Amino acid sequence: MQDFVFHTPTKVVFGRNAEAQTATLIKQCGGTKVLVHYGGKSAERSGLLASICAQLHEAGIAHVCLGGAQPNPRLSLVHKGIDLCRHEGVDFILAIGGGSVIDSAKAIAWGVPYEGDVWDFFARKARHHVGVLPVATVLTLPAAGSEMSNSCVITNEATGQKVGHSSETCRPVFSIMNPERTFTLPPYQTACGATDIMMHTMERYFAPETDMEITTAVAEGVLRTVKSSVFEVLDNPTDYLHRAQIMWAGSLAHNDLTGCGTCGGDWSTHELEHQLSALFDVAHGAGLAAMWGSWARYVLQTNPSRFARFAVNVMGVPCDFGSPQRTALQGIEAMERFYHAIGMPTSIHELIGRAPTADELAQLANNCATVNPKGIGTLRRLGHDDMLAIYQMAQ
Ligand code: NZQ
Ligand code: ZN
Repeated sequence: MQDFVFHTPTKVVFGRNAEAQTATLIKQCGGTKVLVHYGGKSAERSGLLASICAQLHEAGIAHVCLGGAQPNPRLSLVHKGIDLCRHEGVDFILAIGGGSVIDSAKAIAWGVPYEGDVWDFFARKARHHVGVLPVATVLTLPAAGSEMSNSCVITNEATGQKVGHSSETCRPVFSIMNPERTFTLPPYQTACGATDIMMHTMERYFAPETDMEITTAVAEGVLRTVKSSVFEVLDNPTDYLHRAQIMWAGSLAHNDLTGCGTCGGDWSTHELEHQLSALFDVAHGAGLAAMWGSWARYVLQTNPSRFARFAVNVMGVPCDFGSPQRTALQGIEAMERFYHAIGMPTSIHELIGRAPTADELAQLANNCATVNPKGIGTLRRLGHDDMLAIYQMAQ
């Protein structure tokens, strides 16, 4: 077990009509001029955007709006948001949406006080954030966990790279979660979200340290809950209880709780996926499902017992006491059956609707190695040739 610091300062306001508290919470945080940041049409269509703007207006909180954050949020909109905030004297950012909107908001918050290009932080040219604007969220899509996480992932469309950057300075000051706001999610986004939530837990579960039973037990509880709740909400999108379980699981999966006592996780599947969504502009959750089985088979030998425990305790596979390896492989197959059952791909071919070319596989590996010059993974360290081998297995 490793020493750890667990610091999750985001205030969570959870439940029906929770968004009615937005203006009060912003005032408590000292916000006086707010950037309301959102995505495409979903927050407009549901009326959420208009009702929050009306609430701010009534509370006498000045605000400007910036929509257009796309899935795999783009650096160009971040630059636009930074200019707008400087011009308008914004001192608080409210993100209404899923992970893409929240990450776009976090990058804007870093960029406003920074004199250089905010991409410097993602390119590892700059490290220290000073004077970051506070970010709060009204979550509409449980998936990325950005509503409590210290991470932000941005796509630089000029270089074709998608890069994550982590800093404690970007944990939201508060996050509002009303499960009813997720009733409108299409089945595909619901499944992508569940996949991402489970993967945030699994990245930490398959770490080199596995001796802290409480952490393992919490992780297995999160995984089993999401795995069963996702079928309930796919059958009945307005099932409040199961939407709520998934929503809360999304935050627990990525606020570091499921990594306490470990080095923080492996994260190879995420790194491999980020280059998939950068190249093909696919949904992050679907990209994870396309990669995980291949990664798991590639590294299985490093700790077959851990994969066997996952198979039994999460996937419900009967334990083959004579062979942890056989049990482990059955667990991976069961996970891939689960992905198919919820409409997720288990290969790049299924993800993009055609076989990737050899050039594309090479490009994926090169991009992943460029973004991660020291390699990826902690369960097993993977360099460029391993990355290429896993992309080839996943094709
Ligand atoms: O743009 P709109 O119209 O709002 O539609 C969105 C979008 O098309 C839609 N949506 C959101 N809430 C909805 C809704 N549709 C109907 N009803 C609602 N209530 O869903 C689509 C996908 O939204 P997006 O925000 O892209 O999804 P997600 O939350 O999965 O975020 C994905 C991004 O987060 C990054 C991913 O790489 C990806 O760029 N990640 C961020 C992390 C972090 N900051 O900690 C960690 C993750 O591992 C991940 O990498
Ligand atoms: Zn993720």
